Amino acid sequence: MAGKQWHVPVDTIYNYIKDTFVGCGVPAADAKIIADVLIESDLRGIESHGVGRLYYYYVRIKAGQHKVKTEYKVVKEGKTTAVIDGEHGQGHVIAHNAMKMAIQKAKEHGMGAVAVRNGTHFGICGYYTKMAVDAGMIGIVCTNARPSIAPTWGVEPMLGTNPLAFAMPSDEPFPFSLDCATSIIQRGKVEMADRAGKSLAEHLVIGTDGKSLTNAPEILKLMVEDKAALLPIGGAGEELAGYKGYGYATVVEILSASLSNGSFLKGISGLDADGKKTFYRVGHFFMAIDPNEFAGLDAFKKTTGDILRALRASKKAPGASRIWTAGEKEHESIALVKKEGIPVNEGLAKELLTIKKALKLDSYKFPFDGFA
Ligand SMILES: NC(=O)c1ccc[n+]([C@@H]2O[C@H](COP(=O)([O-])OP(=O)(O)OC[C@H]3O[C@@H](n4cnc5c(N)ncnc54)[C@H](O)[C@@H]3O)[C@@H](O)[C@H]2O)c1
Repeated sequence: MAGKQWHVPVDTIYNYIKDTFVGCGVPAADAKIIADVLIESDLRGIESHGVGRLYYYYVRIKAGQHKVKTEYKVVKEGKTTAVIDGEHGQGHVIAHNAMKMAIQKAKEHGMGAVAVRNGTHFGICGYYTKMAVDAGMIGIVCTNARPSIAPTWGVEPMLGTNPLAFAMPSDEPFPFSLDCATSIIQRGKVEMADRAGKSLAEHLVIGTDGKSLTNAPEILKLMVEDKAALLPIGGAGEELAGYKGYGYATVVEILSASLSNGSFLKGISGLDADGKKTFYRVGHFFMAIDPNEFAGLDAFKKTTGDILRALRASKKAPGASRIWTAGEKEHESIALVKKEGIPVNEGLAKELLTIKKALKLDSYKFPFDGFA
């Protein structure tokens, strides 16, 4: 029972996101950066991290977990490195500036890396890796997140969905862009299933008894109580090498917390010792590498393109019509979403209408006005 779905023009959603943040007290220039990141997600077809996250940010701002004014500080800086204290400002704004800094350092010295502590949720890693690609560089970005993955042979949510992203310039019309969580499914997709009234597949999430859970609302409730955990890439146990996903999630945790001397694991649950809401204190890591200091940008792009083309042209599995390389689906999605608009289901429509009423954004006319 998927319910109704509407499509709303990209510009309308972009402006609505911007005005929501401005309505919450975020400066207009910062609200524009946040809207850019969220819209890029929707354009890429990553519905879990686009406008679908707006209500979640709204609730966090209202709860005082994200400060509306972003006043991050550079607490340590070298030629190729920097450490930023995000001071719990808007995650997208902190991340945007951290990646800009890494790119600038890479332009000057071949490589730049910036670690951030006390950040807040910054959306999709791929937005920031693309900033590097747009500057002719390789981008590497990761972030820790509130605990939700259980370690191999464990059932307790300890690591976040800890996404890790790489983007590499190529001579194709799109870069190689791998951008995904180190869990099989990330929390945003559980939230999407919840909004759409759908169940999850088996072997993605486990309860404290180690058995699969598939009911999305139940999972979201149990995750808050530490009674449900997402499985790392590879799944439960060792048979399908779940320890590899567990290992990569730990790499992300270390890069995001140890370099910035930031919080980690249960320290970024967003709850204090008394169970009251507090800052999330997530950490991030941003890196830019200039291929001109290696093979040269054109040669790098050509070899990368040759690798991607050879992979896509290789022999297909019976019944398969196409082989993809990472970033290709997102590239094709952009044209489609621009044409059709951003999909809004009943659950999301309700959230957007709640914000509209609360912030008196009456000038917006949606096809789902009056629903619910
Ligand atoms: N900020 C946070 O705390 C946080 C946490 C988790 C995830 N995220 C973001 O959520 C987004 C989605 O993550 P996800 O884990 O759901 O991603 P996903 O499982 O949908 O995987 C997406 C990646 O896989 C590639 N891909 C998909 N099908 C492919 C195929 N057939 N062949 C080759 N490559 C293919 C895509 O190009 C993309 O790079 C990411 O942008 C991530 O950064 C953010």
